[in-house]
Amino acid sequence: MAFFKSSTRTVPEARDIPKHIAIIMDGNGRWAKRRLLPRIEGHRRGVEAVRDVIRSCVDMGVEYLTLFAFSSENWRRPQEEVSLLMQLFVMALEREVIKLHENEIRFKVIGDLSPFEPRLQQLIRDGEALTADNPRLTLTIAANYGGLWDILQAANRLLAERPELAQGFSEEDLAPFLSMAYAPEPDLFIRTGGEQRISNFLLWQLAYSELYFTDTLWPDFDTKSLQAAIDSYQNRERRFGRTSEQLNPETAVDRLPPSGKPRE
Ligand code: IPE
Ligand code: IPE
Ligand code: MG
Repeated sequence: MAFFKSSTRTVPEARDIPKHIAIIMDGNGRWAKRRLLPRIEGHRRGVEAVRDVIRSCVDMGVEYLTLFAFSSENWRRPQEEVSLLMQLFVMALEREVIKLHENEIRFKVIGDLSPFEPRLQQLIRDGEALTADNPRLTLTIAANYGGLWDILQAANRLLAERPELAQGFSEEDLAPFLSMAYAPEPDLFIRTGGEQRISNFLLWQLAYSELYFTDTLWPDFDTKSLQAAIDSYQNRERRFGRTSEQLNPETAVDRLPPSGKPRE
């Protein structure tokens, strides 16, 4: 069953620890360059940072962690870097999936997997099947993912299944076809590496996420860095379009849109 709870309709419960964290892991190349190392060395160290952050998320009780590993635009990089990245991805899957399973972590991949070599596609499918029923953290890797692609593939699949909706469809109609329909929207978005942009990551799902940017390069990102992001998140007031007073149960008076239905 698809998960549908949009922040434009209902306010997610406030929690000290974000339920879903989504991260753009940026800065591997610059990390390597500063050390006069090849870029791939930065990516290798990046995999180690991934391991640490997964562990910290499990310890803190985060339920969903989504990591941007390869964007639909990253194919434009030099062919050698792309092919080394693919090798690294295969190696990481071969080594890590079993450890994820031992730690009861559910593993998912989102993105258009069709251009990946068959061996990589098979490793992904096997990893997802093996870990499908695991109850702890859901780790999602976005690979050959683009936020625009996601919305388009959802709309195309919806209309193929329900052609009668060609005249118009709602948020509720489309949401189950988005690639992260199994997860709540991210509470906290983190981008490392100093850039302040979304780079075609989750576009639909980030509608009301808290955004956090840090100059720390991804291979240097550790438990302390994650804690700093969560500290910042805990000091935000998530209003979802309401006023500050409305969020306080003592003074709350909820307004309906002019044609709004009563609140459920
Ligand atoms: C992010 O690091 C990892 C991928 C995009 C695969 P980069 O490789 O983008 O590192 P910088 O931004 O060049 O430092
Ligand atoms: C975004 O990083 C994609 C990933 C981290 C996988 P990029 O380094 O590709 O983004 P731009 O090019 O700086 O926007
Ligand atoms: Mg980059």
